[in-house]
Amino acid sequence: MFQPVKIAPSILSADFMNLQRDIEAIQAGGAGYVHVDVMDGHFVPNLTMGVPVVKQLKKITDMPLDVHLMISNPLEQLPWFLEAGADIVTVHAEAAAGYQLERAVEMIHAAGAKAAASVKPHTPVEVLAPVMAQLDMVLIMSVEPGFSGQSYIEGSERKVARTVELARAVGAAPLIEVDGGIGVKTAPLVAAAGADVLVCGSAVCGADDSAAAIAQVTQAAEAARAAALASKEA
Ligand code: DX5
Ligand code: ZN
Repeated sequence: MFQPVKIAPSILSADFMNLQRDIEAIQAGGAGYVHVDVMDGHFVPNLTMGVPVVKQLKKITDMPLDVHLMISNPLEQLPWFLEAGADIVTVHAEAAAGYQLERAVEMIHAAGAKAAASVKPHTPVEVLAPVMAQLDMVLIMSVEPGFSGQSYIEGSERKVARTVELARAVGAAPLIEVDGGIGVKTAPLVAAAGADVLVCGSAVCGADDSAAAIAQVTQAAEAARAAALASKEA
């Protein structure tokens, strides 16, 4: 079940006037992905970046682009993001109910990208059951989507553990990503519960030394995970 923990720094907390510099810093620091928060001012109150930014990022980095779509009409915009070079695309269950979520996963896979689905803090992860076996990744939100710099919602690690169980029940092993308020204090909680990918906005891209921050969060997460594994085996 456990794979090495990877950090996905969210560029929402980067310096947009020096984005290439910040991307190079996280790459040198060992980031696993670049997390791109796409917000439309409708699904969430905030408005951030879109297709042109993904296209430009693709030109300057080899790190996989982990595109988190917080938009109301994912099916309409998906082809654009896939064409722009998104490597992993996350669609929210709240924006793509029932059949639409299945369709989104099919479209993403048909383009050769990896498909992920996300749930907001108040949406039970069980809504992902119909597509769980097809997903490459599940994104558990540990804050209400919309803004970086919020505090981790206590108990979110229980949802991570529940996701591991749900996936296992259908013989699937998607990566589990957690997004919102993740840093040295909270990374151990979610890593011990089974998280594989940690999105870090303010804790990494907002830090003075993003490479050092990646190392610290990774170390804290790996230590907690090793302890959790050891206690299971004991
Ligand atoms: C929130 C975004 C997050 C956010 C994370 O809606 O999806 O990716 O940028 O920022 P921090 O790590 O500061 O909570
Ligand atoms: Zn995000």
